[in-house]
Amino acid sequence: MSKFTTELAKRRTFGIVAHPDAGKTTLTEKLLLFGGAIQEAGAVKSNKVKKSTTSDFMEIERQRGISVATSVMAFEYRDLQINILDTPGHKDFAEDTYRTLTAVDSVIVVIDVAKGVEEQTEKLVEVCRMRKTPVIVFINKMDRPGKEAFDLIDEVEQILKLNARPLSWPIGMGDRFQGVYNLFEQRLVIFRPDNKQERPEEILEFTDLNDPELDKIVGTDAAEELRSEVRTINEIYPPFDKSEYLSGDLSPVFFGSAVNNFGVKEMLDCFVDIAPSPRPRHTEERLVRPEEEEFSGFVFKIHANMDPRHRDRIAFLRICSGTFERNTNYLHVRQGKKMKFSNPTSFMAAKKTVVDEAYPGDVIGLYDSGNFKIGDALTSGEILHFKGIPRFSPEQFRVVLNADPLKTKQLNKGLDQLMDEGVAQLFTRDYDQAKIIGTVGALQFDVIQYRLEHEYGALCRYEPLNLHKACWITCDDKAALEEFLQRRKRDLGHDKEGNVVYLAESAWSMKMAQENHPKVQFHFVSEQ
Ligand code: G4P
Repeated sequence: MSKFTTELAKRRTFGIVAHPDAGKTTLTEKLLLFGGAIQEAGAVKSNKVKKSTTSDFMEIERQRGISVATSVMAFEYRDLQINILDTPGHKDFAEDTYRTLTAVDSVIVVIDVAKGVEEQTEKLVEVCRMRKTPVIVFINKMDRPGKEAFDLIDEVEQILKLNARPLSWPIGMGDRFQGVYNLFEQRLVIFRPDNKQERPEEILEFTDLNDPELDKIVGTDAAEELRSEVRTINEIYPPFDKSEYLSGDLSPVFFGSAVNNFGVKEMLDCFVDIAPSPRPRHTEERLVRPEEEEFSGFVFKIHANMDPRHRDRIAFLRICSGTFERNTNYLHVRQGKKMKFSNPTSFMAAKKTVVDEAYPGDVIGLYDSGNFKIGDALTSGEILHFKGIPRFSPEQFRVVLNADPLKTKQLNKGLDQLMDEGVAQLFTRDYDQAKIIGTVGALQFDVIQYRLEHEYGALCRYEPLNLHKACWITCDDKAALEEFLQRRKRDLGHDKEGNVVYLAESAWSMKMAQENHPKVQFHFVSEQ
């Protein structure tokens, strides 16, 4: 096998999706500990925006700092190189998470046993489902009282609309949590939280649950309950089929407690057995397969440099095919120009290192002085446009005004670059050329104002704007499109790429526009 084939086969790139507080940071940390990428607990900082003692701005800055450091966390485990891509916790940054999900090959969803499936998880899993991304579910905090396991599986199926297949099953919960029975490996994993040893797990091979030994270990009641529940599971669910998981049609479910490091290794071992190696990516031109020799990749995230002395930014590139090499000329497809990179960076839990080579599934950071925007492709020479990087129809709007006429240039440049980073979207209203910023969450307005001032030396202020939604318009029928554009003249604008957007004032006007112009298509997600 060539080096390329070996390296490609080793890569597993995934993201962890969770509602804030479900335990994403804790789980990530435990995974890194297993991989030896960090030595102590507490090394991975939560990227939550906590509105506690510090001001929001400071929180935003803190969050940005952390998310650069933890954007990609790589570790080795059982001969594989595992790349975890971090996803922001705060809902106002959900768009970042959606984009990051375009760069992973599989996902682990963390659910809090007491809270069950929460709203944010629902939306993110919907994206995974649409893309057929394989999903593993980890039900966390089993050491706490929570919902019944069957009810949780039901939520996973009804709310997340995933076909669940429990691969482990809890014995009690909260104070009575005794461990899990691993249905895949047929063994009992006993929870020993008081165990002073490193892992609070004791593993007992247990192929026959009818063995009276079980009663001695967990007590008669718990043993009976487990037997009956496992019988039910085996009646309801067909045996686990890896190919169904890989096609995104079946999601294995595990139970554990991340903070106690219980059930984590079990899930990780299963992940290593079943998770997909880098998957092909769709482009407008063709399907790009990871094993192709020619290099290609796309930018899914851009971060401004935290160091104010360095104006450059970091563009995060997911490698889709071939080998990326340092100091080699590649084609920046959108700009039609060749570029080479002298210090492409890989991230290893806050440690940055310059990489000479990177392979499909890897994510590298490229220092950028403003050339990249989200969705950009970099290739060995072929013209490729990667599909599926979503832009969402924003729901909060403000008109942005220049508060310092002497700094117009700085303001425009700042706005331009922040939009390329995907912080928000900028529309120009046709009739008065007003600049409208549209965001998915409210926090972005503060982020923009603060960063314009601190990074670009520009001052802006906002005027409230009552808009319901901005959506993209297409229409195959020229006459129908023309009629729509004439009739809705005052509600039209253009996005930065020059696409027409309809700025609906209210839910009612949105509905009327759709009813009166049946041939016009209104798009609430636009793909870059
Ligand atoms: P997030 O990144 O998904 O937002 O969650 P994070 O890991 O920060 O965990 C949120 C809180 O839940 C943390 O407590 C963490 O210790 C706790 N936690 C995580 N896993 C478990 C578990 O298995 N059992 C229990 N009982 N708690 C768990 P915190 O008080 O917010 O923070 P900290 O002071 O403990 O760090």
